[in-house]
Amino acid sequence: MTGQIIGIAGATVTVDMAGLKLYERVQVGHAGFTGEVVRLDRERAVVQVYEDTRGLGVGEPARGLGMPLTVQLGPGLLAGMYDGLQRPLERWRAAQGPFIKGGIELSPLDFARRWRFFPLLREGAEVVAGTVLGHVEEGPFRHLISAAAAGKIGRLPEGEFTLAEPLGTFADGGEILAVQQWPVRRPRPYRKKLPASQPLITGQRAIDFLFPLARGGTAIFPGGFGTGKTILEQAIAKFADVDLVVYVGCGERGNEMAELLEEFRTLTDPWRGAGLMVRTMVVVNTSNMPVAAREASIYTAVTMAEYYRDMGFHVLLLADSLSRWAEALREISSSLEEMPGEEGYPTYLASRLAGFMERAGVVETLGGQTGSLSMILSVSPPGGDFTEPVTQACLRTAGAFFMLDTSLAHSRHFPAINWFQSYSLYEKELTGHFNEKVDPRWGELCRRCREVLQKEEALREVAEIVGVEGLQDADRLLMKVAERIREDFLAQNAYTEDAFSPPDKTVALIAGILDFYDQAVARLKTGALLDEVLKGETKANNKDGQDRQDEGKAET
Ligand SMILES: Nc1ncnc2c1ncn2[C@@H]1O[C@H](COP(=O)(O)OP(=O)(O)O)[C@@H](O)[C@H]1O
Ligand SMILES: [Mg+2]
Repeated sequence: MTGQIIGIAGATVTVDMAGLKLYERVQVGHAGFTGEVVRLDRERAVVQVYEDTRGLGVGEPARGLGMPLTVQLGPGLLAGMYDGLQRPLERWRAAQGPFIKGGIELSPLDFARRWRFFPLLREGAEVVAGTVLGHVEEGPFRHLISAAAAGKIGRLPEGEFTLAEPLGTFADGGEILAVQQWPVRRPRPYRKKLPASQPLITGQRAIDFLFPLARGGTAIFPGGFGTGKTILEQAIAKFADVDLVVYVGCGERGNEMAELLEEFRTLTDPWRGAGLMVRTMVVVNTSNMPVAAREASIYTAVTMAEYYRDMGFHVLLLADSLSRWAEALREISSSLEEMPGEEGYPTYLASRLAGFMERAGVVETLGGQTGSLSMILSVSPPGGDFTEPVTQACLRTAGAFFMLDTSLAHSRHFPAINWFQSYSLYEKELTGHFNEKVDPRWGELCRRCREVLQKEEALREVAEIVGVEGLQDADRLLMKVAERIREDFLAQNAYTEDAFSPPDKTVALIAGILDFYDQAVARLKTGALLDEVLKGETKANNKDGQDRQDEGKAET
């Protein structure tokens, strides 16, 4: 179906075509820019265009493709870097040079590469959509190939093939392909959701110990400018105990993404030992790229994540930041002259965000595997005001909330996760797991750690009035211990070895601090002076002081 452009307003383009469908993919202009239908009238439709519309003119052609926006799924997506429309950025740049233009169709997959296919099923087997047919080896991963539709296997030999060739045939002659298309807005199906009961270790003590996350869970961390959102997302991308990571750079600075990729190429996954890049897929839609495409990048990323979840992998989707997508929604909504909701965001903001976050979870896949998709999403509330609509909407759906605190960031306590305001709904369920698998003291240490921090808070108020010297020795001791918990345990410098803290290190550190506390209390009771009790401690403090200076140097 073809027509013409009759109006252009930023990223929204009006075309004179009847009979399009909502969210149908449309190509507009001589350049063939990709967009989706977001509004339908009797004789015209409005298309949200995911490429830079500068230079586009009224009267240029438009073409409905009769299908929604899809991604291509198949072996070879890992280690790739894509734009919101899943174009592989490196090959794209190689083809066009540094000034890449939109409107180009470029498959994310390499159709020339040869793969060896190992079939699992034989001739005559009956399959349904999602049945595992066999696998190829993608880096260190077993990439399962599943049936896209039901049928009876005719031929399915072992052997080498390219993605351009069928793997085999169905008994009725239909081809069996290793590549499939999937509409990005439609969640991929599974047999059933399972409870999220396994921890997702992030390597960040403040999270793993105080506000643990479950595989299949969702966490958001809102924080104002400079509170460490990007550094935290990147640290988790490096150290998280998952099989695969999908990282979406959504509307943030491009140089941060470039640095991340450079670093990832040199690092290894601390859990599985393979290179970090082979477990990672990156979707970039940085601040210099078209705003509307942030929406596409979010959906492209989650669909690729689900595809690997469906092979039984534990996949983590990281996005920095969800607010930039919400801003794109606001921009589009306002150019459609929709009735604005709170702060100009569309009234469907909350349901759109929830719909996306609900794609996380642990599932039993159609092929009978267990896979999970977890999400850790940053939010950038303007002015660090958490009452704003995006933070509030995310809060309603997320299972964990890490509040990044501007005053902690100012005092250079990173990650700036506020230990009073944050929460995790997974904590109860996971404590049992940590007690059993890591250390039987885990839950109790956790309770005591919080208790010390709370008491410190109460004592601080007293100390403000009477001065620290006016406090009793037992209270001054507690304040010292709380300081150690904050500075040596909860704080974690992303630029040192300490950036990654596996659970056994985490528990050893906190147990060390609380053991010291117990011994010190006992000594005070037998009449020792506080200064004597803290003597060993003072040395440790000097050493920390040195560490902190070194950290300062590393950053500059
Ligand atoms: N874990 C950390 N360890 C050390 N420094 C950190 C850490 N997190 C953040 N920082 C410091 O804070 C700065 C801002 O962090 P960034 O992640 O860019 O903030 P945001 O994305 O929230 O604007 C960093 O450049 C770094 O100096
Ligand atoms: Mg940032």
